[in-house]
Amino acid sequence: MAETTEREPRAPSADDAAHGFEDPSAGTTAHGFEDPSAGTTAHGFKDPSLRRSAALFRAFMREPSDPERCYTLLARDSVAQVARHVDLAGKIVVDVGGGSGHFTEEFRRRGAQSYLFEPDPRELNARGRTTEDAVLADGYLLPLADGVADVCFSSNVLEHVADPQTFISEMARVTRPGGLIYLSFTNWLSPWGGHETAPWHYLGAERARARYERRTGHAAKHTLGENLFPVHIGSTLRHVRGRDDVQVVTARSRYWPFLASTITRVPGLREIATWNLLLILRRSP
Ligand SMILES: C[S@@+](CC[C@H](N)C(=O)[O-])C[C@H]1O[C@@H](n2cnc3c(N)ncnc32)[C@H](O)[C@@H]1O
Repeated sequence: MAETTEREPRAPSADDAAHGFEDPSAGTTAHGFEDPSAGTTAHGFKDPSLRRSAALFRAFMREPSDPERCYTLLARDSVAQVARHVDLAGKIVVDVGGGSGHFTEEFRRRGAQSYLFEPDPRELNARGRTTEDAVLADGYLLPLADGVADVCFSSNVLEHVADPQTFISEMARVTRPGGLIYLSFTNWLSPWGGHETAPWHYLGAERARARYERRTGHAAKHTLGENLFPVHIGSTLRHVRGRDDVQVVTARSRYWPFLASTITRVPGLREIATWNLLLILRRSP
């Protein structure tokens, strides 16, 4: 397993309170900084823990009415996971398929030089503005030289690409030897695998889509085989473990409060119970 680098503690900012999050100093050291040795998230919860999962779940449930709060919380949570492996200050972070930029902006808030690469202009502008220095680009072919990124980050994109192995290869290409790759996705057999049509996708993608349209009066955003693809935990794990350009540092459920790594080791069960797989990979020298 690759060595990890502890990061410097970060002082809580006024911005934390502005978003109405829990006191970021909760569960931290007496001087109000996060304890870098603990798995503590930016919002003050242990990771994994029941309180963290409950906070994320509540935010997901309210996502339709308050997407800003949901994605700001998720970005803080995910960037804190990266920051447990690398001191982000001054590091170059590439956010692939970063949508409207919540993660890129959180990396910047933590001192990284972060760049957003997103192929869909509607996603880029979904917040009515575009993140500064965002690049309209496809994750299969990033306009970057080999090995420029200290961290290559991708949240919930892999299930939206037809060729996940090429997508992973491109992430590995732009990451410097020793750099980190954060890759998470919702697998097809997850209870959320069908996205807005879930959990009815268990009865078949077409049936789930038809039901969604009947119930809501509009077409689902995702169509299997067009912009949503059946990615699986077992085959993805076998693929990354078989690659010689990366080493697996972490393979766990991204959101589960307990047994987050154990679940991913049980064939069959892991396809349903993992929910969303988080892979942290180290680029080989
Ligand atoms: C579910 S959104 C995730 C957005 C953001 N990363 C997050 O976690 O909230 C999926 C994103 O993947 C992007 N995407 C789809 N195909 C892609 C590709 N080939 N390369 C890069 N991004 C892609 C979509 O445009 C969309 O912004």
